[in-house]
Amino acid sequence: MQINSFEEYQRNYQLSVDQPEEFWARIADNFLWKKKWDKVLSWNFSEPNIKWFEGAKLNITENCLDRHLAENGDKPAIIWEPNDPQKDSITLSYKILHEQVCRFANVLKKNGVKKGDRVCIYMPMVPELAVAVLACARIGAVHSVVFGGFSAKSIADRINDAQCRLVITADGAFRGNKQIQLKEVIDDALIGCPSVEKVIVLTHTRTPVSMLKGRDIWWEDEIKLVDTNCPAEEMDAEDLLFILYTSGSTGKPKGVVHTVGGYMVYAGYTFSNVFNYQPDEVFFCTADIGWITGHSYIVYGPLSQGATTVIFEGIPTYPDASRMWQVVEKHKVNILYTAPTAIRSLMSFGLQPIEGVDLTSLRVLGSVGEPINEEAWHWFDENIGKSKCPIVDTWWQTETGGIMISPIAFVTPTKPSFATLPLPGIQPVLVDEQGNVIEGNDVSGNLCIKFPWPGMLRTTYGDHERCKQTYFSTYDNMYFTGDGCLRDVDGYYRITGRVDDVINVSGHRIGTAEVENAINMHAGVVESAVVGFPHDVKGQGIYAFVIFPNAHGDEDLTRKDILQTVTRVIGAIAKPDKILFVSGLPKTRSGKIMRRILRKIAEGDTTNLGDITTLLDPAVVDEIIEKAKK
Ligand code: PRX
Repeated sequence: MQINSFEEYQRNYQLSVDQPEEFWARIADNFLWKKKWDKVLSWNFSEPNIKWFEGAKLNITENCLDRHLAENGDKPAIIWEPNDPQKDSITLSYKILHEQVCRFANVLKKNGVKKGDRVCIYMPMVPELAVAVLACARIGAVHSVVFGGFSAKSIADRINDAQCRLVITADGAFRGNKQIQLKEVIDDALIGCPSVEKVIVLTHTRTPVSMLKGRDIWWEDEIKLVDTNCPAEEMDAEDLLFILYTSGSTGKPKGVVHTVGGYMVYAGYTFSNVFNYQPDEVFFCTADIGWITGHSYIVYGPLSQGATTVIFEGIPTYPDASRMWQVVEKHKVNILYTAPTAIRSLMSFGLQPIEGVDLTSLRVLGSVGEPINEEAWHWFDENIGKSKCPIVDTWWQTETGGIMISPIAFVTPTKPSFATLPLPGIQPVLVDEQGNVIEGNDVSGNLCIKFPWPGMLRTTYGDHERCKQTYFSTYDNMYFTGDGCLRDVDGYYRITGRVDDVINVSGHRIGTAEVENAINMHAGVVESAVVGFPHDVKGQGIYAFVIFPNAHGDEDLTRKDILQTVTRVIGAIAKPDKILFVSGLPKTRSGKIMRRILRKIAEGDTTNLGDITTLLDPAVVDEIIEKAKK
């Protein structure tokens, strides 16, 4: 299923458009099914109702583990690199990983988890996180992984939304020179989560934790009580595999739902092709498993292809800015998949951290999560890839399950900061505000996809109407991505950023409404408005305009109080970079905040604010501009 020339790409692409069912059936034949499908695809985008490989039976863990055992049982499946470089790394072969997954799957069963039950996972980046994820999939439980940076309240909201029965966590996590008390956060979260019956706690940092009788149990104790024999549950292709929460325009994050068959095929196919993965290569994706990138390209994609995948617990700048490159050297990484924000941050340390580090193992470089600026692209290309490694700038989303628009390494000619061309099976269209499809090249518009692909979301958990409204109602019969995009003279796509009220901070999606709700929870805040602004390292930063009548006493302290409130409500990742106290917000006569104006002010561009005559009180704009200058 690997594409090896541009001509082959074109042929495959055409086939995928002309005969999508034949195309995807042929790809799906490369996977292990307990029973093949009756129908490849049935769909409509109006309800929406999307089914891939209907009638097929499988278990994704048999594809990620069992099928590799006979020939590649001793091959490394996971290489774990700890936060502290002085500590030993750990390698798990496919055989060992299979054993650990089966054993832990039995622990879940013993603790009452059944097919279809939801399990929340809140863990550090350790091999046991992958084991926990795969153990859920083994028995047909639906995992909902929550990134370690979210607050107790965020976790509680997610647990309650999915009605999780069990939580898997650890005592704590190491991140650079910090320790995060994961179990303590879970304890706070669970005060308001009646659906949770059991909490399995892995020891990792060995910080003291409270263990509640009847509810909390140790991972290490539990695995001693079960054996390693756990036949894989037979799943329908359209059974739920996981829920992953992501931010949108409204205040409440939504649980994006992916199903077993289509997701597996799409994650595996895109992994194998985009990165041109070769047997015995080491693949290193620097994302956290708490995000979709980690789900698809640390766990499911690589393992489904029998690859060796690196799990890195630490951060690129600890103990110093050479760490990521050291990891590449140490584990002879062949494919490095990272985010523009990491590249920009490491760029700022100059070339010294790379000096003397052997990066010759690298063959392919990848970028994901946000637009990559040309400067960062060239720096990555010249200094890391030594101008020999193709860079795949991969555009996709939590909702798409896998990479959508991207070069295929060694196949698609690249162009800095362009995601280039759609992968086979993906039919992008650009649409204007009125919903007209924009034909031709050298144009820009809102990016939509007009035909289903196996990895797409099926619903938003517990609220199908929301899925319909968010993605399928803006434009008829199309999936709306929320991104703006241009198609250049060569037909190459360049993603220009979100066109909705979502901001992308260091590759993390954050809804402005979510941050506003959090700020407004502070007792002294009357109202707030949040917008994104260009940030040298993070891509976008968070700028909050806040009406806080009594902030005059000690503005700095009040700012810190607000940051603390946001940290409590969402998590540290949503803390505003700038907070400006204002006496009013620019509103139309109907009471709508004119964010366009605030965005301009946040960008520091106040020369052309556009028409402000419709504002209720235009004077407020001058006041904000004055304050923002200080
Ligand atoms: O705006 C796009 C941006 O990230 C959004 C998706 O975020 P999330 O669901 O968290 O998934 C991130 C990892 C797949 C998109 O709507 N984005 C993602 N990749 C790129 C990108 N923007 C520009 N170029 C990319 N390569």
